[in-house]
Amino acid sequence: MFQTATSANKWEAQQVTEHLQRWVAYHREQASEGACASYIPALRRADPTQLGICMVGPSGNKVTAGDWEVPFTMQSISKVVSFIAACCHHGMAYVLDRVDVEPTGDAFNSIIRLEMHKPGKPFNPMINAGAITVSSLLPGSTPEQKLHYLYAIFQKITDSAPVINEEVFVSEWMHSHRNRALAHYLKDTGYLDCEVEEALEVYLKQCSIQVNTEQIALIGLVLALDGYHPLRGEQVLPKEVVRLAKALMLTCGMYDASGKFAAYVGLPAKSGVSGGIMTLVPPNLRSQSPFPGGCGIGIFGPAIDSCGNSVAGVSLLKQIVHEWDISIF
Ligand code: DON
Repeated sequence: MFQTATSANKWEAQQVTEHLQRWVAYHREQASEGACASYIPALRRADPTQLGICMVGPSGNKVTAGDWEVPFTMQSISKVVSFIAACCHHGMAYVLDRVDVEPTGDAFNSIIRLEMHKPGKPFNPMINAGAITVSSLLPGSTPEQKLHYLYAIFQKITDSAPVINEEVFVSEWMHSHRNRALAHYLKDTGYLDCEVEEALEVYLKQCSIQVNTEQIALIGLVLALDGYHPLRGEQVLPKEVVRLAKALMLTCGMYDASGKFAAYVGLPAKSGVSGGIMTLVPPNLRSQSPFPGGCGIGIFGPAIDSCGNSVAGVSLLKQIVHEWDISIF
């Protein structure tokens, strides 16, 4: 048996894989409704028809389908890890003093709210203004030290050292005028804990961490279990920080499509413009699903919509959640 959590559970890994393979083949077709991110030249070259998924459960049980092994950069998915990292170091109160927890309904890189709402506190850590602020809060007096702290958390969860895709980083750095504008505004209003260029370097490097769907699913799994790493048998992240991060994923993780995603999928999730989605199913949600003990889910499908979310990935998730009845609502 694939899972032994309930004797009534009938799923076998092969059967789950076959479902996923069929659904991936079907939803891959949806990719033509989106396009690869073009504002970062290095992302434009991805094959828009790719779609892959990895689901990992608490015993390490893993099912995969499609292009699940293809490397891609974390992009905004990294915002969840950096927020958790900053909270681990400073405590939640310190971080929440500098970044709020309210959805905006605006684009991820929007500038408009910063000046409209004095004193210019970023609305949440999942939009760029909030994420750049959070990156500046990471401990250390240099970008290297800040990234070192973030990498250590990444490594503890995924059991792999992070690799930066230098081509993507350089491409982002060369085209980061809007992020630079955000960072300058945040520096002016006193929200950045370091210099503009340092905060940007940390933020853009964390976006350029190269991953595959399995690593993303592993992070999702640890979040599903409130910071407990079942494969290490260790609480690697504080429960209250993880719960806050999941609330932010649900309300802000899919940008200006977060409401629709909560309504039609119903799982905490975080997307990135390279086409990644990290999501998770909490344990004991539906005993008849293939993952009654919960799971992390990593998806890669580089054709994105106008909000920055993978078109085929969201479509695939809708089907999985519907078929296996695993919405949290
Ligand atoms: O700030 C940027 O432009 C990117 N490096 C990250 C943005 C991102 O992934 C937004 N996602 N959907």
